[in-house]
Amino acid sequence: VTFFVPRDSGALALGAEKVARKLQAEIETRKLDARIVRNGSRGLYWLEPMVEVETPNGRVAYGPVKASDVVALLDNGMGEGRVHPLWLGLTDQLPFLAKQTRLTFARCGITDPVSLEDYRAYDGLKGLENALKLTPAEIVAQVTESGLRGRGGAGFPTGIKWKTVRDTAGEQKYIVCNADEGDSGTFADRMIMEGDPFVLIEGMAIAGIAVGATRGYIYTRSEYPHAIAVMNEALEVARKAGVLGRSVLGSSYAFDIEVRVGAGAYVCGEETALLESLEGRRGIVRAKPPLPAHKGLFGKPTVINNVISLASVPVILDKGSAFYKDFGMGRSRGTIPLQIAGNVKHAGLYETAFGLTLGEIVDDIGGGTATGRPVKAVQVGGPLGAYFPRELFDTPFDYEAFAAKDGLIGHAGLVVFDDTVDMLKQARFAMEFCAVESCGKCTPCRIGSTRGVEVVDRISANIEPEKQIEVLTDLCNTMKFGSLCALGGFTPYPVMSALTHFPEDFRPAPIAHA
Ligand code: NAI
Ligand code: SF4
Repeated sequence: VTFFVPRDSGALALGAEKVARKLQAEIETRKLDARIVRNGSRGLYWLEPMVEVETPNGRVAYGPVKASDVVALLDNGMGEGRVHPLWLGLTDQLPFLAKQTRLTFARCGITDPVSLEDYRAYDGLKGLENALKLTPAEIVAQVTESGLRGRGGAGFPTGIKWKTVRDTAGEQKYIVCNADEGDSGTFADRMIMEGDPFVLIEGMAIAGIAVGATRGYIYTRSEYPHAIAVMNEALEVARKAGVLGRSVLGSSYAFDIEVRVGAGAYVCGEETALLESLEGRRGIVRAKPPLPAHKGLFGKPTVINNVISLASVPVILDKGSAFYKDFGMGRSRGTIPLQIAGNVKHAGLYETAFGLTLGEIVDDIGGGTATGRPVKAVQVGGPLGAYFPRELFDTPFDYEAFAAKDGLIGHAGLVVFDDTVDMLKQARFAMEFCAVESCGKCTPCRIGSTRGVEVVDRISANIEPEKQIEVLTDLCNTMKFGSLCALGGFTPYPVMSALTHFPEDFRPAPIAHA
């Protein structure tokens, strides 16, 4: 019998390690012919730790399992029908999973993350093998034709970025993976690194071959110790198996990857601050131009892509650009891993083609709030993303559609709030967050964010609120158009969306008359 107990940090935070240890002890005591695979998470976090058991009909899931449930589960005979309240049925038939289109996350939660045999058994390395049969220019063309856009948030076409680096002369070029996942409510990068690290390695190797880079760096944060450990373990396996090194899969291409750990400043997710940090300096934003594609790491042409952008490349090279492009809507092609979090019943990762409406995501997939109260607002795209009210729930999940509503899809994180949320406090939080995380290089962000907190506080204290709202709007415009990077430039999104959609929270409560 094979049991699966996730090893990713989401499941670990919910007690998966204790469950795995108890299960192992019981296997030994009962002398069962069984083994435990420590897989990644399937992304159904309200059911984690989700333990699965292999049966002739497929895997059967139980969850959320506590260590104290293990004895009863084994006594009842796992996998043989509904004999325990934690029984969930066949994993693949769980509606939250069955309705997804898993292209990038196809193996996440299924394979042993550090087993290359498992990876190969589930179509791993096919993309890289196909890439090795193409010329670098053909690889770039495939990625361009697929319509893949930067999944870190900005949505810049990945193929065009690669072409710029390919066309730029340089004796050394680099692939930098931006794994500094800092947005609140997002965890897709972490899940891939912990659940299917080889797909990122494969994507980076393909990028290296395509643009002529021989070295790659994965820049992640110290808050991600499990991701760092799994990535390093997988890199060692990949080197030993000849996937990385002087000859990638026996070809004439060389490529190797190193994990670098930052100290967790939000601004180090901004690509030029990331490069500064990678070069050993304090993470301060550099002015662009020059673009990193022209002068990036150590002044050399550099591809900087988010984890999910790179992890989406293998399936494109495996199944073809037309296959990938077929999913989605408008200029948003392929799939996007939605990360549903906050006050929501079914929190987790849901990969789907672009185009679902915000209402479908929050109400149908997320199941509404965990508290059972009405949804008041959803912040989409991290702490710099706009708050969407119910009236905008018909907005389709698409880069352009969100921009048209003064929002952004960012890294596709959604944080749900019920009707007890105070949007003035959320606006204050946005300004405060910016003040804390600002790198200090430009004035609108460095000074503006602190002034923003003061203005919001004056509104709260009912000191000339109408005038302060005017000042706040003016300040937001200055920050939006005058800041050097997205941190100062996008902080106005949560602030202005809160003000626009929930003006009642910015007005003093009427004085109650006795
Ligand atoms: P940007 O629009 O300035 O650039 C996008 C990317 O395209 C960059 O890598 C840039 O170097 C590249 N680029 C632009 N023109 C190019 C050209 N002609 N050739 C080659 N490459 C070119 O946006 P930026 O500042 O990089 O990112 C902002 C986004 O980051 C926001 O939309 C926000 O959603 C997201 N974000 C994500 C976070 C996360 O945790 N994933 C955290 C904070 C922000
Ligand atoms: Fe630094 Fe803020 Fe200016 Fe960005 S907007 S460069 S974080 S001060």
